[in-house]
Amino acid sequence: MNILILGGGGREHSLAWAVLQNPKCDRLVVAPGNAGIAAIADCADLDIMDGAAVAGFVEEEAIDFVIIGPEAPLAAGVADRLREAGVLVFGPSKAAAQLEASKAFTKQICDAANAPTAAYGHFTDAAAAKAYVTAQGAPIVVKADGLAAGKGVIMADTVEQAHAAIDDMFGGAFGGAGAEVVIEEFMTGEEASFFVLCDGTDVLPIGTAQDHKRVGEGDTGPNTGGMGAYSPAPVLSDAVAERALAEIIRPTMAEMARRGTPYQGVLYAGFMIKDGAPRLVEYNARFGDPECQVLMMRLGAQALDLLEAAAKGQLASAQVNWADDHAITVVLAANGYPGTYDKGAVIKGLDALPQTSSQMVFHAGTATKDGALTASGGRVLNVTARGASLKEAASRAYEMVDAIHFPGGFCRRDIGWRALKD
Ligand code: AMP
Ligand code: GLY
Repeated sequence: MNILILGGGGREHSLAWAVLQNPKCDRLVVAPGNAGIAAIADCADLDIMDGAAVAGFVEEEAIDFVIIGPEAPLAAGVADRLREAGVLVFGPSKAAAQLEASKAFTKQICDAANAPTAAYGHFTDAAAAKAYVTAQGAPIVVKADGLAAGKGVIMADTVEQAHAAIDDMFGGAFGGAGAEVVIEEFMTGEEASFFVLCDGTDVLPIGTAQDHKRVGEGDTGPNTGGMGAYSPAPVLSDAVAERALAEIIRPTMAEMARRGTPYQGVLYAGFMIKDGAPRLVEYNARFGDPECQVLMMRLGAQALDLLEAAAKGQLASAQVNWADDHAITVVLAANGYPGTYDKGAVIKGLDALPQTSSQMVFHAGTATKDGALTASGGRVLNVTARGASLKEAASRAYEMVDAIHFPGGFCRRDIGWRALKD
């Protein structure tokens, strides 16, 4: 099977790494890829937002299966364009990717599916939004409706802060994403993520994870794309997962199918969990980054079979074989991230590290310059390890971190703290 993966971050490096372990894979191309991916697969310079260009490439290169990593091409309808051309694709249609691309859409689906989530209001003008906030009181959460690279959510401690956030959003601070605003009840509890493959009809859970969004240790400082993750997430126990499937995920999938827009791909559900009851915070239409890295480390070669089963509508007969283990990934980022960050630092020490089924350094933002490995993004490396316990996995990962020479790089030293404290 010839496979094309779209994307070029740590998520796509881990997908490529898992896919290559499966003997079914004859050739792997990743577009655009990065320096780490280039060491294991062919990289293609392709505009992944251009569905016609991707379809043309698939035809020329005799690609049999396309796996779409990031949300932007999904929201732009690249999966639709490929399916029209008869290509087997993993990833939802533009209409189904609305579950990530529009927060108001997701709230309406939750209403129709009777799925537990925060109470909300949906507004297209500032005055009505402010009146709602005044009536509800604070704390309260103000969200830009559209894709805002993870920045369109403001947790307001006071009514004044919420009013200011509403003015910012309608004032264009998040571009088109803020033309509509969702205001939500502030939920308390512990957050965790659930990853479920969907084929339009059936669903197959493939793991739980917890992310660390804040840049600083002890969950301080500004939000990032994620500074580390681990799997499984103990708070999302089997009992909570069963409830989430019954009360939230399956009803959502049924509602999407009922509307004529069945969802196929991975559904990444973020829950707030309190007293064993999950409530939906958000859906994403793709794997999390860096959550994907820990899931791929635990799944290995079978990931390709599972993604293929989802794309072919065959999840009813698919099965996940879990090793009863733990995986963790620590993000090495460039100084300044998530703000303006340094670029071009030369990274050394990776060659001496083992690359095994239980220890891998996935590349996120790296490039090769004059034969040297350099940092080219905000999140640069994902140092990933498995272990019989989370503690063992974490000490392996941090041993690798300490063996990497990355001037101007930093990481959080407390990845996994919630699960490790128990
Ligand atoms: P979202 O982009 O909707 O996932 O929001 C980003 C983050 O904001 C979430 O991961 C939560 O930590 C937080 N958040 C979003 N909505 C709420 C809510 N209604 N109550 C409490 N926290 C929230
Ligand atoms: N790590 C969070 C995300 O991928 O959205």
